[in-house]
Amino acid sequence: MREIVLLLLASSLLLTSTTAKSTIEPCSSNDTCNSLLGYTLYTDLKVSEVASLFQTDPISILLANAIDISYPDVDNHILPSNLFLKIPLTCSCLDGIRKSLSTRYKTRPSDTLASIAGSVYGGLVSAEQIQEANSVADPSLLDVGTSLVVPLPCACFNGSDDSLPAVYLSYVVRGVDTLAGIARRYETTVSDLMNVNAMGAPDVSSGDILAVPLSACASNFPKYASDFGLIVPNGSYALAAGHCVQCSCALGSRSLYCEPASLAVSCSSMQCRNSNLMLGNITVQQSSAGCNVTTCDYNGFANGTILTMLSNSLQPRCPGPQRFAPLLAPPDTVPKDLMYAPAPSPDFDGPGSIAASPGSSVIPPGGGPLPGNFANGPAGSISTATFSSLSYFFIMFLISVSSFSFVFSS
Ligand SMILES: *[C@@H]1O[C@H](CO)[C@@H](O)[C@H](O)[C@H]1NC(C)=O
Ligand SMILES: *[C@@H]1O[C@H](CO)[C@@H](O)[C@H](O)[C@H]1NC(C)=O
Ligand SMILES: *[C@@H]1O[C@H](CO)[C@@H](O)[C@H](O)[C@H]1NC(C)=O
Ligand SMILES: *[C@@H]1O[C@H](CO)[C@@H](O)[C@H](O)[C@H]1NC(C)=O
Ligand SMILES: *[C@@H]1O[C@H](CO)[C@@H](O)[C@H](O)[C@H]1NC(C)=O
Ligand SMILES: *[C@@H]1O[C@H](CO)[C@@H](O)[C@H](O)[C@H]1NC(C)=O
Repeated sequence: MREIVLLLLASSLLLTSTTAKSTIEPCSSNDTCNSLLGYTLYTDLKVSEVASLFQTDPISILLANAIDISYPDVDNHILPSNLFLKIPLTCSCLDGIRKSLSTRYKTRPSDTLASIAGSVYGGLVSAEQIQEANSVADPSLLDVGTSLVVPLPCACFNGSDDSLPAVYLSYVVRGVDTLAGIARRYETTVSDLMNVNAMGAPDVSSGDILAVPLSACASNFPKYASDFGLIVPNGSYALAAGHCVQCSCALGSRSLYCEPASLAVSCSSMQCRNSNLMLGNITVQQSSAGCNVTTCDYNGFANGTILTMLSNSLQPRCPGPQRFAPLLAPPDTVPKDLMYAPAPSPDFDGPGSIAASPGSSVIPPGGGPLPGNFANGPAGSISTATFSSLSYFFIMFLISVSSFSFVFSS
């Protein structure tokens, strides 16, 4: 009884201070995972400029989007405004929730917190969140050249969805989106999205941030490898071992396949011990007993050394050649097909559409952070409002109450 009163109080206070909904994953250990941001370019930007906005490297961004990195001078390739990209990001556990604080932005003339949040970072962050993360007293007095921490959303959910490997994409809902459209686009279901995001109803509003599970292939590297737990979404490539190795899912399978990266330079040996096979090599040998398949697999990166593992298996039939997501040319235009479009939409809106008031929606009464949804989400996700300094306290409060009520209801 007391619980219910407390929750209603907390939710009604949230209602007064909130804007768009955002999924927040509570966490307790300080482990990290790899995650993705769904980012729509607010203007034409070079690949290297997108990379510096997120303090990541251009090659990782290109490979995450299956863009061919062997094009000459690809770092300086200009990507078109409104292009949708997946940005790889390391997701941490800070103050009990999943987020990333590793991105910094240096302010330029005419920047405001609202333009940085809504336009430059495409609504992945709110002005209030930047203000709070940097203890900005007066947002109207923003000195040019100030280095601001940009807190970005992310989720790990144990690297799985329905017990299958998954990488989570933080996706900013646009006006044209429906939950069904987003589910179709990312090959998941409305009910899965509702579970992951602890939604009471299949409704989304422009500016909401959803955690979208992307089916993925998981590695099985030893714990001491620096890339332990590497998990790569279907259709993406990931770099490992200091840019020496690239990994992706083989089409039609859940197995991770790694090979020398196309730009590999000064790398440690990639030969499997006691064998003449190189990392990524697969040999097949038909015998009366079946097909003898020998592979030289990547087994993680430790102490600057590429670990390899020779494995042998007898299979009933010899496997055909492995196929991977095709690498695409660096785009010059926003494709009309759905390759980069976030969800089936009639057309791409004009520039600036993504900045359209993230925060025009409020938590529907009975939806969002109200109790009853908690038990559905993996590892206790909480869908709640983008938090300001005031609501932050109540979110923490809700998290503790939710674990409390979870214990009692299970
Ligand atoms: C968190 O990280 C610190 C070092 O960074 C480590 O000493 C500590 O054991 C970690 N805690 C957990 C719960 O993993
Ligand atoms: C996390 O995932 C691993 C395998 O991916 C599984 O063994 C483990 O039980 C999961 N843990 C939780 C808390 O779901
Ligand atoms: C991976 O993506 C391809 C192409 O988009 C699709 O055909 C395949 O079913 C996907 N595989 C998994 C395991 O999701
Ligand atoms: C082994 O892999 C190397 C590097 O990827 C490649 O050049 C070579 O042709 C492969 N050999 C076999 C037998 O597949
Ligand atoms: C499979 O082939 C490898 C080398 O090609 C060989 O060492 C191994 O004995 C073979 N295994 C079987 C069961 O034939
Ligand atoms: C890596 O180096 C450290 C210290 O040099 C050593 O203790 C550790 O065993 C090494 N790990 C591996 C996997 O070689």
